[in-house]
Amino acid sequence: MNESINRRDWLKTGLMSIGGMALAPHLAQGAFAEKAFKLDSKNRLYYSPLAREYFADESNAPKLVAKLNANENPYGPPNTAKSAIMGATEKGNRYAWREMYSLVDKIATKESLTKDNIMMGPGSSDLLEKVALVRFMNGGKIVSADPTYMSMIRVAESVGAKWEAVPCTSDWAHDLDAMEKAIDSDTKLVYVCNPNNPVGAMTPTKDLAEFCKRVSKKVPVFIDEAYMELADGPEAKSLSYLVKEGYNVIVCRTFSKIMGMAGLRVGYMLATPEFIEEISAITRGGMGISITSIMAATAAFGDESFQNSTKTKNDAAKKYTMEALQSMGYSPIPSYTNFMIFPIEMEGKAFLTKMMDKGVGVRAFHITGQDWCRVSMGTMEEMHTFIDALKSIG
Ligand SMILES: Cc1ncc(COP(=O)(O)O)c(C=O)c1O
Repeated sequence: MNESINRRDWLKTGLMSIGGMALAPHLAQGAFAEKAFKLDSKNRLYYSPLAREYFADESNAPKLVAKLNANENPYGPPNTAKSAIMGATEKGNRYAWREMYSLVDKIATKESLTKDNIMMGPGSSDLLEKVALVRFMNGGKIVSADPTYMSMIRVAESVGAKWEAVPCTSDWAHDLDAMEKAIDSDTKLVYVCNPNNPVGAMTPTKDLAEFCKRVSKKVPVFIDEAYMELADGPEAKSLSYLVKEGYNVIVCRTFSKIMGMAGLRVGYMLATPEFIEEISAITRGGMGISITSIMAATAAFGDESFQNSTKTKNDAAKKYTMEALQSMGYSPIPSYTNFMIFPIEMEGKAFLTKMMDKGVGVRAFHITGQDWCRVSMGTMEEMHTFIDALKSIG
């Protein structure tokens, strides 16, 4: 049985997260409705019957030496972005519309779209939530994989949507056939996270494109591509071209990952002008982004050398971590992102506590009856610290 968190516990949990390493950053924001978040009887954050997340008690935790719990980019922000921020402080007395539209133009050119296809937000979370609010304010059904990234789903449920959670396939891809079957006349949006957090796997692009072409004739398909620039191989292909082809597909991107700007908060979505208009009629996407962040994002967007170097270093960290884990007998899911997840024997909460005592912050989940550790890729030094800590806790 799962129970709602009462307001006092809610604040306590939120404050614990704020004060510590934000193990559940979506929880560290007290403005959410209570009913959006539930704990199960073992005090784990309840996602679905299939997926839960453990909390660590951070009250006595030492300072982290390896912060590997939020899929951040350890190399950012790029120097070009830092200089742009310094230059932008002078303009802090003005709204940043002109600068934002200039960034929108750059994105439009790169994507071969127009400005009417683009909505900016202070992080992609903001856009996920705005879409959830607007699409589901009168109820309806949201279909997604399970497990997946929960931002949009939590907000949709808070405002009255029903979540149809479709278990991933045995290789952790989206089960597109089952998702298509789950769509009915109440469904107002399909959420696809590709590559998918927290599993790190990709859904074959060709199958996903066919799915989008069919399904988007009935209902919008929202594809969260937060990690796409970090993915490798033939599957690593954005589906933003479907927007250009006029399908009712929304592609969401963030400056938090490959561009190293998680704390600066910039994201955007690409969609049909009609979809952008629907969301903009009720919310204002770009209004929440500061001039400093817009200028930083503009610099980072053009800084291919920083993006390439992040990718190279992330690949090296993944290779090292995968090999080290395998040599210790673990079986991580092959990752297309900047994190990796693998089954652990230890109970998730004890695991988090022991790792934290070693100064290593990771995340722990309970998925399909098994406990898992999700570790973000840090610098090579941080990955050595992580592997050493893992060896020492036994
Ligand atoms: C799949 C996915 N989408 C969106 C986000 C939100 O990123 P941001 O709000 O920083 O753009 C994250 C963050 O970890 C994520 O994993």
